[in-house]
Amino acid sequence: MLVDTKQAIVLLKQGQVVAIPTETVYGLAADASNDKALRQIYAIKQRPADNPLIVHIAAASQISDWAAEFPPLAQKLAKAFWPGPFTLVLPAKPHVSLIVRGNQPTVALRVPSHELALQLLKESGLALAAPSANKFTQLSPTTASHVATSLGEDIPVLDGGACKVGIESTIVSVIGDDWQLLRLGMVSEASIETLAGKPALKNQVDLPKAPGQHLLHYSPKTPIKLFPSREALINYVKVSKKSCAALLIGEGEDIDKLPNCQHLTLSKQAMQAAEQLYSALHAMDAFNVEQLLVEAPPNAPEWLAILDRLTRAAH
Ligand code: TXA
Ligand code: MG
Repeated sequence: MLVDTKQAIVLLKQGQVVAIPTETVYGLAADASNDKALRQIYAIKQRPADNPLIVHIAAASQISDWAAEFPPLAQKLAKAFWPGPFTLVLPAKPHVSLIVRGNQPTVALRVPSHELALQLLKESGLALAAPSANKFTQLSPTTASHVATSLGEDIPVLDGGACKVGIESTIVSVIGDDWQLLRLGMVSEASIETLAGKPALKNQVDLPKAPGQHLLHYSPKTPIKLFPSREALINYVKVSKKSCAALLIGEGEDIDKLPNCQHLTLSKQAMQAAEQLYSALHAMDAFNVEQLLVEAPPNAPEWLAILDRLTRAAH
């Protein structure tokens, strides 16, 4: 059910959920300080209670409402990447709902870079907890109609068009002047490292993990098989007896060698490919074939977040 900004604000203030657009993916939003509203998010998504939510705020100035500490490194990163596809995990103030932080001592915060999302945050005066607006482990939605497909027609959706970034935010936890990368995204590890002046901590047991980073994730309903090269994919199609659809990176003459297999093509530019990725997978799911075959992206830093999502989808 589509709603406009005014209706969305009324619903959110009443403690209802509304699916909202952001630049990354659509989020299933609710008032981050209303436990009853937060419980609805978990129920609708069928999400485990120990998987915390990201709190979306209108500006970095609201950090102090949520985080007990805002170290200089976190301030620097917020200044560089907000509004944008970047989430900071910081020690939480004691009053922050245990539901929103999935019982963690920390809270995840993000200022989204989407006109409608920012308008909602500013005009409502609320902070909005919003996980991706899909059922647990499924593909994230990048259009209003993807939300309806995953969560049903009854969910109120604010339609803000197709998401421009297309995959979920980069998540970084900051403790003092150290940082850890919890989820890859289109804000690159290298750009964070440059600002931090040092590399990320790896596998520190005493740092918070992102509990939601299950290996099975971001999955279409159709099983996915990931191939190291287009050649390997084509060779598989030649011998496979299953009906299939292929997702390829960039055009090429060899596509003609794919008999009996529909295909979609992503851009050769990583940023554009990220924008197209989930829409392509949603579309291929609707082909109703037995297998989705995906060509692995180039082995280069700007493709790492896309490779991460495809690897999880194929798990
Ligand atoms: O781009 C995005 O981040 C989108 C849009 C809607 O903002 N949201 C999103 O939310 O991807 P979700 O819930 O699908 O993924 C949030 C991730 C989960 O893996 C969760 O475990 C992690 O963030 N997370 C949230 N709070 C955390 C915390 N306090 N400590 C560690 N990880 C946290
Ligand atoms: Mg998600």
